[in-house]
Amino acid sequence: LITKMANNERSFIMIKPDGVHRGLVGKIIQRFEERGYKLVALKQITASKAHLEEHYVDLKDKPFFPSLISYMVSGPVVAMVWQGLDIVKQGRAMLGATNPLASAPGSIRGDFSIQTGRNICHGSDSVDSANREIAHWFKTEEINDYKSALIDSWV
Ligand code: TYD
Repeated sequence: LITKMANNERSFIMIKPDGVHRGLVGKIIQRFEERGYKLVALKQITASKAHLEEHYVDLKDKPFFPSLISYMVSGPVVAMVWQGLDIVKQGRAMLGATNPLASAPGSIRGDFSIQTGRNICHGSDSVDSANREIAHWFKTEEINDYKSALIDSWV
């Protein structure tokens, strides 16, 4: 039997400006809902350059960093916190590989994109990154605690 504690894992999932621009917000949310995850925080935000540089601080020395930041500031993103069993690892699997051409069909990137520089979505790569990213994007009071029929009763 799955314990309630096991369902408390959270991940930071973000729909990038290209995903918003292309009208994929609903489809992406639907995949996480249908899988059985619980949406506990959501906002659309046009993030500042400084905010995004901090989000991607681990990549600051990469050659693609400037183009990554200019892409990420090009329009609003949809920032979310999803909760549920193994959400960090499963969220990455649902997103697909960083390069959409290496992403399996059936994944979000594998179904909707073809370029690494326009790969639609972000997902935390570890529980530690998830905690850091959630704190970076959301205030405590923006994260909601409520009973979900999906994960709090029958899963
Ligand atoms: P990374 O954290 O390596 O991948 P992921 O988003 O799958 O965790 O890289 C962050 C983003 O940087 C990636 O989603 C797209 C962009 N990027 C490039 O533009 N070019 C590259 O060669 C790489 C590796 C990433």
